[in-house]
Amino acid sequence: MGNVHVLDHPLIQHKLSFIRDRSTGTKEFRELVDEVAMLMAFEITRDLPLEETTIETPVTTTTTKVLAGKKIGLVPILRAGLGMVDGMLKLIPAAKVGHVGLYRDPETLKPVEYYIKLPSDIHERELIVIDPMLATGGSANDAIQSLKNRGAKNIRLMCLIAAPEGVEVIKEQHPDVDIYLAALDEKLDDHAYIVPGLGDAGDRLFGTK
Ligand code: PRP
Ligand code: URA
Repeated sequence: MGNVHVLDHPLIQHKLSFIRDRSTGTKEFRELVDEVAMLMAFEITRDLPLEETTIETPVTTTTTKVLAGKKIGLVPILRAGLGMVDGMLKLIPAAKVGHVGLYRDPETLKPVEYYIKLPSDIHERELIVIDPMLATGGSANDAIQSLKNRGAKNIRLMCLIAAPEGVEVIKEQHPDVDIYLAALDEKLDDHAYIVPGLGDAGDRLFGTK
């Protein structure tokens, strides 16, 4: 069964409070999401393998460690996932970025896929699917399935906020996928919005309504 990791670093929790606050405007919201994504990237990469290398310091020759070159791919779910990409790339600049376009139909609440473009070697990459919100889990579930259908083998899911309902869907449908969150909220409301949540992530990031 996939593990759920709530990243409770104080800086992540502090910034998330301002992200949630309805009085936070678009510019500040975008900056905070970028910062939290960077901090989450720091936590999510904790288990990356290292290898030894030999270098010359100004004083002596020594053996040190560098990343063992694991290939990473970031896959934001459009639109709102885009808000987290640059922050993650600040720490993982060599990652390739694929895109999955999905929107949630307001009537059926089911995800509709309208775009997909991925690196050609996804089967050998550690993929991190990124979306600020995991609500019913429909969008992330479809995105992960789309990646698997195209050969992806190692997938993690990273979200700012999740509802228990969405977490259960991913655990059931994709038990191989670990989930990384800044917060696990209480529930969904009647419109499948996360409570307390942050509202509509795409609208708050891009200033639409
Ligand atoms: C939001 C969010 C997720 C999805 C979560 O996107 O960014 O992708 O809803 O809901 P779910 O877990 O119930 O599927 P939305 O459909 O509003 O599209 P947008 O990013 O284009 O605004
Ligand atoms: N999508 C959002 O943007 N927010 C929610 O609370 C649920 C789905």
